This record gives sequence, C-alpha cells and structure tokens, in this order.
Amino acid sequence: MSTTSRKPFVGGNWKMNTDLASAVELADNIVAACGQFTEKCDIAIFPPFPYLQAVGHTLGNHNILLGAQDVYFQPNGAYTGEVSTQMLLDLNVKVVLIGHSERRHVILEGDDLINSKLLAVLEAGLSAVLCVGETLAQRDAGETDQVNVSQLTSGLRNVTEKQMQRVTIAYEPVWAIGTGKVAKKEDAASAHAVIRQSISDLYSPNIAQQTRIQYGGSVNAKNASELFLESQIDGGLVGGASLDSGQFAAIVQAAI
Ligand code: PGA
Repeated sequence: MSTTSRKPFVGGNWKMNTDLASAVELADNIVAACGQFTEKCDIAIFPPFPYLQAVGHTLGNHNILLGAQDVYFQPNGAYTGEVSTQMLLDLNVKVVLIGHSERRHVILEGDDLINSKLLAVLEAGLSAVLCVGETLAQRDAGETDQVNVSQLTSGLRNVTEKQMQRVTIAYEPVWAIGTGKVAKKEDAASAHAVIRQSISDLYSPNIAQQTRIQYGGSVNAKNASELFLESQIDGGLVGGASLDSGQFAAIVQAAI
C-alpha cells in the first residue's frame, strides 16, 4: 500500500488557552478558513474542557472534529475533577488526546494510566491520538528510539487490531514543544519510521501502513510544508500556531 493512502490529519491543541468568547471566535474562524479542506484532510480542534460545548455548537455540521485534551478512564464515580468518556460523547467529542507530553511531564501521568485512558476511549467508540516523544536529555543520551518504542508499546497494550483503525500516533519530541525549536525533518522522519516499524512488530505491516503518525512540536505556517513532504509524516499536532486561524489553515493546506 502506498503512503498516499493515509489521509493527512491536523489537530489544533489549544491547551489551557482562550476564554469562552475567544474560543468561540477562534472556532468560527477555523470553520471559515478550513471548512473546505475536510475532504482532503482530517481536522480536529482540542479546546479546554469548559468550552467544548460552545465550540461544538460553533463547529455544527462542518466536519471539523471536536477533540478533548484528556479524559479519565473510569465510567463515573468519586473522581473529583475528572471527566468521563460518556461526558465527552454527550458533547459530541470525536477524538481525545492521550499521553500528551505536558500530561506526562507536568502532571506526571505514567504509562499505566495512559494505557487505561486509551483503552477507555477506544471502548467508548471514540478515536484517540496517542502522543509519544523523548526529552532533550533522552535524545542527548541516544535514547530517542528506545523511549518512543517503550511509550508506544506500553500505551498500546491490549489495543486490538480493529481498534487501531481509530488510533493516530503523535510523535512530539518534548524539547520541540512550545520552544520554537522544530525537529530537523530527517530526525522527525527517522523517529516516525521507527514508530511505524514498531507498530508493524506489534500488529502487522498492514496496520503499520494504515496508521497515521503526526509530528508535533513548534509546527507553524513556515515549517509545515517541509516537514509534511516527508512521506512518513501524516500531518501535525499543532499547539501555539493553532490559536491563529490563518496559520492553522496554512498548516492544513501544507498537509494536503
Ligand atoms: P506547539 O505544541 O506547537 O506549541 O509546540 C505542540 C503540542 O504540544 O501538541
């Protein structure tokens, strides 16, 4: 199967940014700027939890997917502050970020929790973006591939072949996130190739060819085209630049 059979996928991770009015305005502008590209590129936006409903209304039937930045794996109960998959489904969320580096390294989520969250998301029928990536210290120590394979393997534990159709991987080197330091395209392509090989080992060459792997880490309107020219890179997970509808639209066009 040729790599071109993978539809590109660009996500906008708003993190803990916007307020209610600016979230709705940004969503509105993204619909206007990107609405015409959804046939050629899957597009998702990941607003903060409190604005999911309002942003969801703004997205309406425009085929831009509503995404959540996190979720908890238990269905309900005494889990103060947490949000369940059913709550996300109620708001028409379609896709959930799992194991983002800020949750791994700031909130200190471990591999087991990340795996439980991914399984809960898939069992609920939602799609997921599982994020993996090495820190600068790990890269300098030559541990990049080992870290990515290990995060991938533990994250995907007990995920079935069938469920893999709803899983996207985001390779996000921690040192490139929010720093303006984008990975060299060769380094990103090499990490993507290792991740794809690892999916092939865990599942099959066919599943590996079908699974989309996004690059994330300081993607912007200027550097996106060069990165996306790499056949291993199937789009991007975009933080800072997704807060600007014009830049986000340019990144989507680069992915197409
Ligand atoms: P950034 O964030 O584009 O601001 O580097 C990417 C991400 O965290 O997904």
